[in-house]
Amino acid sequence: MTVKRSDFGKDFLWGAATASYQIEGAHNIDGKGESIWDRFSHTKAKIKDGSTGDVACDHYHRFQEDLNLMKEIGLPLYRFSLSWPRILPTGSGAKNQKGIDFYHRLIDGCLESGIEPAITQYHWDLPQAIEDKGGWTNRDSVSYFAEYVDLITREYGSKIKRWMILNEPTAFTTLGYMLGEHAPGRKGLTSYIPAVHHVALAQSEGGRITRSNCSTAEIGTTFSCSHVESTGEFSEKAAARYDYILNRIFVELSLGLGYDSETLPIINRVEKYIQNDDMNKMKFDFDFIGIQNYSREVIRWSPFIPYVWGQMLPASKRASKTTDMGWEVYPEGLYHLLKKFNAYSGVKKIYVTENGAAFPDIIENGRVHDSDRTQFIQDYLAQVLRAKNEGVNVQGYIIWSFTDNFEWAEGLRPRFGLVHVDYETQKRTLKDSALWYKNFLAGS
Ligand code: FCB
Repeated sequence: MTVKRSDFGKDFLWGAATASYQIEGAHNIDGKGESIWDRFSHTKAKIKDGSTGDVACDHYHRFQEDLNLMKEIGLPLYRFSLSWPRILPTGSGAKNQKGIDFYHRLIDGCLESGIEPAITQYHWDLPQAIEDKGGWTNRDSVSYFAEYVDLITREYGSKIKRWMILNEPTAFTTLGYMLGEHAPGRKGLTSYIPAVHHVALAQSEGGRITRSNCSTAEIGTTFSCSHVESTGEFSEKAAARYDYILNRIFVELSLGLGYDSETLPIINRVEKYIQNDDMNKMKFDFDFIGIQNYSREVIRWSPFIPYVWGQMLPASKRASKTTDMGWEVYPEGLYHLLKKFNAYSGVKKIYVTENGAAFPDIIENGRVHDSDRTQFIQDYLAQVLRAKNEGVNVQGYIIWSFTDNFEWAEGLRPRFGLVHVDYETQKRTLKDSALWYKNFLAGS
């Protein structure tokens, strides 16, 4: 099935996304403070290919060229994040005017090009100074985050129609605080559980501050999600525990549904971090949620993984098609997830705020023939349309990513962009998928 823009209706939002640490570079200039990703990527053996985000796509200096490319594609919306330590180098207190001015230039550049700037407030680059005080395991981080959100929403609020508070709280708490695979590299439940609690508090607090400073803006937050299946009857409970961690925990906290210790008994350990009115404070009436989907997970029972008693079956062992990240291509999963999130009565509207794929792209005679990516996007879009036609209130689709970029612990190797970046020369090349998107956006 080939989808057309008009199938989705004229108000449907179309865009592409990036994140500050993944593209900006300029990691230590114009007064920027250190982030946990600067520290982590500079630590030996943390990034698979040994690369860092020190330069990445040098978007800090080349943003105008990138905006010109967006304009050429006819991109209606650009989702990007702000680097907290570029604005508040030590996380709170003294401001960095040059960092603040950079985002004014970027936002103004979008507006001049007729592109809606949509901002993610926190896409993982916590100021290292805050991590030094315990990062998200420290409850004070909620107030530091509040100070940062108050500053940025006052500063940029008059120009921004859509804000997203957090990017994928599940991903950065599990990978960064439980498994140690992402910054800040902490491991274990004693870090993970308080981090979850404080991040959930920060999410709603950020929502409230944004609403009070930007009363007419739409406010959302974004959730990573994967359609979860079990290998059979014995693994169903393990699959339910994974589903809770991967898909449910943060949306349910924001909706006031609390922690589900029936499904995941170990989450009870959060009790010692809960203060008076916390469960109420975690609620926020978001105007939309963003869902971000890349793959599906199949869970089998395992006696070796404590607390969840299950394990993810590697996609390579069961899937016919995987991406360069080793993730299964499973478009129908997005349909199931849209249905699942739409079924929460407090969820008002959904945007797919990230979806995309890494493939081993190569430049041949100045072109990148990434037909796998175009096919991937079309197949996932067909599932978005299927859900929409069945009544799911999904109102937008944003591709990850605009340009190739620094893919966290995987480094610069995986290429997710619509636009190819040669990291030696910083030359940008529109891939065939970008040309397809251009035609799609221009068509009826
Ligand atoms: C998501 C992240 C994004 C990018 C994609 C591939 O989990 O939000 O920054 O790394 O995965």
